[in-house]
Amino acid sequence: MGIPYRALTGETGGHMNVGLWSELPAEASLEVAQGALVAATLARARALFKGGAPSRVVEAGSGWGGARRAFAKAFPDAEYIGINVAADQIAAARAANSDVPRTRYVHGRVEEDATWAEVGFADLFVSVEAAFHFESKTELIARLQRRGVRALMLAEILVEDPTAVESKLLAPALRHGWSRARYDVALAAAGFHNVTFETVPGPPFAAFAHALRQIDAHTYKARGGRMALVHQLRRAFSTLADLERDGRVSYAWISAGGG
Ligand SMILES: C[S@@+](CC[C@H](N)C(=O)[O-])C[C@H]1O[C@@H](n2cnc3c(N)ncnc32)[C@H](O)[C@@H]1O
Repeated sequence: MGIPYRALTGETGGHMNVGLWSELPAEASLEVAQGALVAATLARARALFKGGAPSRVVEAGSGWGGARRAFAKAFPDAEYIGINVAADQIAAARAANSDVPRTRYVHGRVEEDATWAEVGFADLFVSVEAAFHFESKTELIARLQRRGVRALMLAEILVEDPTAVESKLLAPALRHGWSRARYDVALAAAGFHNVTFETVPGPPFAAFAHALRQIDAHTYKARGGRMALVHQLRRAFSTLADLERDGRVSYAWISAGGG
């Protein structure tokens, strides 16, 4: 999946998310929209630290490292630790950000204690379009405060109706997805206050499906892409756009803690 997906935007962006399109001109690129989603997520994370700042930030599901420089801008003095389960993405992220001080990448699953043994503590936990992949989320969330986390910010796909994502097309990515109610309960049980949900405008799945329809096959193939992936993504995100319209899935910023 690495090269074909990455070829959607080329090497420069380093993102793998649906993007934030609501304030962009119609001709904006996917890469710009993806950067806008990261920037909007980090602006919300920064607002959780009224007047103060985190000293250590974890990005769970850090992908190819496209967000590291935006983290440095939002939290210039904080140490940054990116966690990712895919070794090739960790290698790409390290290479892309080798010149950014206070940067560390840890290879592993964010759910696992062994990963956190390498991470140590963190006072802010951020994840952009990755938490729906994480298994054992109840346990992960329950342990965050013990690991120092005071605030959490997710840009997250919410699955309100699990039957909607049982198809072969959607289940591999979304079978561990949670509803808003499940997050609400788990975050409260873990001791987080001020839990908020804010729908990401766009609507994001429809906007991403539209962007996929604009992909120029010639440029994409020249970058090493495979049109089969684009067709599969188009089918998946058109389906998600329909489900999004019916409220069976949604895309939201989830924040908790802070102060
Ligand atoms: C849709 S991508 C988002 C990547 C990045 N946050 C971005 O916006 O470009 C989801 C990422 O989560 C990672 N991931 C999935 N399950 C994971 C896990 N259990 N622990 C750590 N990373 C995981 C994937 O490898 C992938 O990089």
